[in-house]
Amino acid sequence: MAKTKSFTCNACGAVTSKWSGRCDSCGEWNTIAEEAPLSAGPAAKSLGAMRGRKIPLTDLATEEAPPPRTNSGMGELDRVLGGGLVPASAILVGGDPGIGKSTLLLQAAASFARGGLKCIYVSGEEASAQVRMRAQRLGLKDAPVKLAAETNLRDILTTLEAEKPDLAIIDSIQTMWADNVESAPGSVAQVRAAAHELTTFAKRNGISVVLVGHVTKEGQIAGPRVVEHMVDTVLYFEGERGHQFRILRAVKNRFGPADEIGVFEMTGDGLAEVANPSALFLSERDTPAPGSVVFAGIEGTRPVLVEFQALVAPSPHAQARRTTVGWDGARLAMILAVLESRCGIPFGGLDVYLNVAGGIKISEPAADLAVAAALLSAREDTALPADTVVFGEISLSGALRPVGQTDNRLKEAAKLGFHGAILPARSKGDGGGLSLQTMADLAGVVGEVFGAG
Ligand code: TYD
Ligand code: MG
Repeated sequence: MAKTKSFTCNACGAVTSKWSGRCDSCGEWNTIAEEAPLSAGPAAKSLGAMRGRKIPLTDLATEEAPPPRTNSGMGELDRVLGGGLVPASAILVGGDPGIGKSTLLLQAAASFARGGLKCIYVSGEEASAQVRMRAQRLGLKDAPVKLAAETNLRDILTTLEAEKPDLAIIDSIQTMWADNVESAPGSVAQVRAAAHELTTFAKRNGISVVLVGHVTKEGQIAGPRVVEHMVDTVLYFEGERGHQFRILRAVKNRFGPADEIGVFEMTGDGLAEVANPSALFLSERDTPAPGSVVFAGIEGTRPVLVEFQALVAPSPHAQARRTTVGWDGARLAMILAVLESRCGIPFGGLDVYLNVAGGIKISEPAADLAVAAALLSAREDTALPADTVVFGEISLSGALRPVGQTDNRLKEAAKLGFHGAILPARSKGDGGGLSLQTMADLAGVVGEVFGAG
């Protein structure tokens, strides 16, 4: 029988029978790669034709206690995990090369090991000597972590089976090589096979595994999206290269809330936890400047204050620029459109730059009003009072919508010494001691706060 070829899209995981430059499913270019067939021959026969084992069914009601968790002692990491490490769970930690994944996980392994867990750290990228040097620099050389520099998955699984650790760290999934798959390490097929082997191995043997994954320029973990579906928890380690702040964000968690963040600072001797991120993100703020607005946000279960900075200047280009860092460009376009068509504030012919200070990414729609206020403040050259926070969602009609957790946002602002807040009318909250300026629509903000429009 002729061997049938199969091709998989790198971006969405769609399978096709022929190669093409562009994926029909997701529309991405140059993402289709050939893959060895998973099974061939008689096994391909319909599953329904052969009797399987009858699976015992259970009720929804259960007496079982929630899974026991182990705390690392690194509070920021434990929170992102949903309250500590769950036994036999599979965790993917993604991030740009050089952002600090290996540093974070070596520190985590050392903390867990000092707390009594048996930990094995497998590096496929660095030699043992390099990892030991880093451990020494981080002051961890006496932590009882076992090391291996290896990429052969078969050998790694055999070792883990014999050693029976509580936690195994695989740095990185892209360097692993399964010898039963005929393609190069780092290819879709290898990454997928290695992730599958490691996660099923973890479940079967009661070992927790952490897989490190590099992300591509587009911000996805290299290899198919299916790796994200295989694991219980997906964490992203983000931050700007030039900044010392690093944010560990849970984008998926079967054992806790997603969207939870842990904040770290990269120092000369490793990652230090930041227990009060608001104070840190605002620490570089100076006297009130036009274009600078403090947003009272919620990240996961925690309120975080961050500064939005806008710059609006006449454009020398035929097409004016819109540049954002830390905020969605499409959302910026929407807010500009609402300001233009609902409030009569034109931005045509003006370059617009928007930046979130500190290298954190904000995706909450509650930041709409802070973005609009920063744009207006920059355009009108009018600074808001330095002790005022802003939040609220903007609808396409120009109306302001109340957002969740108003009380928590206001309390955090009061705690950090702010005295006022601009927020949507009908927001639920008692003010927490701040003087509140409630607004029904964006046109009101334009007129009453900035005296424009
Ligand atoms: P690393 O953990 O190797 O990144 P990744 O595994 O994500 O590729 O971190 C690399 C960077 O971190 C490197 O540029 C140096 C910096 N770093 C410090 O600033 N302080 C430290 O104590 C360590 C170990 C690294
Ligand atoms: Mg690394």
